[in-house]
Amino acid sequence: MAGAARALADRLGLPLIPPQENGPPLRLLVTGPGLELRLVHMRPGQGVTVQWLHNPRLHQASAAGEGLIRAVGARRGQRPTVLDATAGLGRDAALLARRGCPVLMVERSPVLAAMLADALRRTAAEPEGAELARHLKLHCGEAVSVMAGLTDTDRPDVVCLDPMYPDTGKTAKSRKEMQLLQALLGPDPDPPGLLAAALDTARHRVVVKRPRKAPALPGPEPSHRIVGSSTRFDVYLVG
Ligand SMILES: C[S@@+](CC[C@H](N)C(=O)[O-])C[C@H]1O[C@@H](n2cnc3c(N)ncnc32)[C@H](O)[C@@H]1O
Repeated sequence: MAGAARALADRLGLPLIPPQENGPPLRLLVTGPGLELRLVHMRPGQGVTVQWLHNPRLHQASAAGEGLIRAVGARRGQRPTVLDATAGLGRDAALLARRGCPVLMVERSPVLAAMLADALRRTAAEPEGAELARHLKLHCGEAVSVMAGLTDTDRPDVVCLDPMYPDTGKTAKSRKEMQLLQALLGPDPDPPGLLAAALDTARHRVVVKRPRKAPALPGPEPSHRIVGSSTRFDVYLVG
């Protein structure tokens, strides 16, 4: 574990901190079940991890999950290719991949990208995860430049966006997660620029995930909206 932590710290250009030592409040821990992002006062397991296979949200039909599936236009016999330009913890990406959509996850934070890469490797190594992992690819980088660099044949059917939004989570777990992500990332620099790039890239549609009552991103009006109890998907048809 110590060797893995040293290699990861070197790769990310982060200081290596022995477990009991004081230091920065936010830490990325190398643990048996995977990488965990944790504030120093949290107990082991209380931080944020990337977990797809044993995440009930991926296996139970939830209203928000079904809303996302409808928003990207996936249905029987139709599995659009998706570029998730704000991959985060990869839950939306994994949900789409589980329904058979090939998904490219793009994440600008090297720390989150390392957590996603670790989860992808672990998922692929489990017999029941191989199929899910086969549908997921990862790119660490700024999505606007990644999209600008795509060749015409590589353009996805759908681009999904879920920019950071001030905490609206009702549960302690979602508040804690948002607190950790905001401590790591701060606000997203330019969601309207990301929407403009997505509209230039997607072959068929752009889907923007928003809290139910949040305003739409500045730019063109969505073609339609799929509204759930706490989440809304703004759908922009293109092409
Ligand atoms: C709210 S989180 C997304 C959560 C994700 N939908 C999930 O299911 O876990 C937003 C993420 O988008 C990333 N992000 C924001 N703007 C980006 C950009 N221009 N390029 C790449 N990643 C970006 C942030 O670093 C953050 O991790």
